Amino acid sequence: KIPLLIDTDPGVDDALALLMAFADERHDIVGLTIAAGNVGLDHTVRNALKLCEVAGRDDVPVYAGTADPLLHPSVDAAHVHGADGFGDVNLPAAKRQAEAEHAALAILRLSHEYAGELFLVALGPLTNLALALKLDPTLPQRVKRFLVMGGAVTCHGNITPAAEFNIAFDPEAAHIVFSGFPHIEVADWEATVAHGLLHKDVEQWLGADSDKARFYELISRQTRLWSEDSRGERWYAADALAMAWALQPEGALRVESRPLNVELAGVHSRGATIVDWNRQTGQPDNTRLLMAYDQGRFEAQVRAALGFV
Ligand code: BDR
Ligand code: CA
Repeated sequence: KIPLLIDTDPGVDDALALLMAFADERHDIVGLTIAAGNVGLDHTVRNALKLCEVAGRDDVPVYAGTADPLLHPSVDAAHVHGADGFGDVNLPAAKRQAEAEHAALAILRLSHEYAGELFLVALGPLTNLALALKLDPTLPQRVKRFLVMGGAVTCHGNITPAAEFNIAFDPEAAHIVFSGFPHIEVADWEATVAHGLLHKDVEQWLGADSDKARFYELISRQTRLWSEDSRGERWYAADALAMAWALQPEGALRVESRPLNVELAGVHSRGATIVDWNRQTGQPDNTRLLMAYDQGRFEAQVRAALGFV
């Protein structure tokens, strides 16, 4: 099995992505490292532990990361995910606690344990990965595959006109990661928008007779209502699409390789991902950008994760 390490800030769409990973038979989840982002770190850690408990995956170790972006304070996405990140439904805390080891150190340790095999997937701001990379710049040499949900490849952002949330939350961290890893697979916000899920379909799938579906229906209710009100008939589950591609790369219909840089200084564009579409910089292609994924396959992966048959 492929050893999979997921850095995540759960978050409602993170939770769906994690259920997809839990349901996959070709990957072995070796840990969850937790970032701050959608909400504060105390909540994202609690949510990760709760999700593991509900999914019967208390065997997966959870490592808390860093509570703040590297340099500048950022605004969270509680307006999308709820103040607690899981839809404010008063969930009792999980019985288990996070491991004592810091997420950045766990990333480095696991990269040695699974050297040459490790598959890293990042579903949140890149703070933990940037720290790991600063501690040990040889990290990329031991990582077989690295996939990030983040960015907006033609600058149609979701949190500012130009920038996507995961990158905009900690642009300095994203800059460190995109300049330190030579090969990053990127599932960006614009791919997410091209692969929305119809709310009426999702509602049907959430009616599945499974604990996972019942739990997910509950924690996602508020964000799905917000999404329907503000964005219309499709729900954009960014992390779920990224995870679909991560788990079944054969589902990609079009991928483009290009150089990508993170904007740190822009007045209107801080946190934007600047893709060198016309290859004017002479930089090597450091990214593979997901442009199209098999929608039917994506939807089947979501249904399977929820136990909808
Ligand atoms: C990303 O930002 C977060 O709100 C989501 O969990 C996802 O990772 C989408 O821009
Ligand atoms: Ca996320």
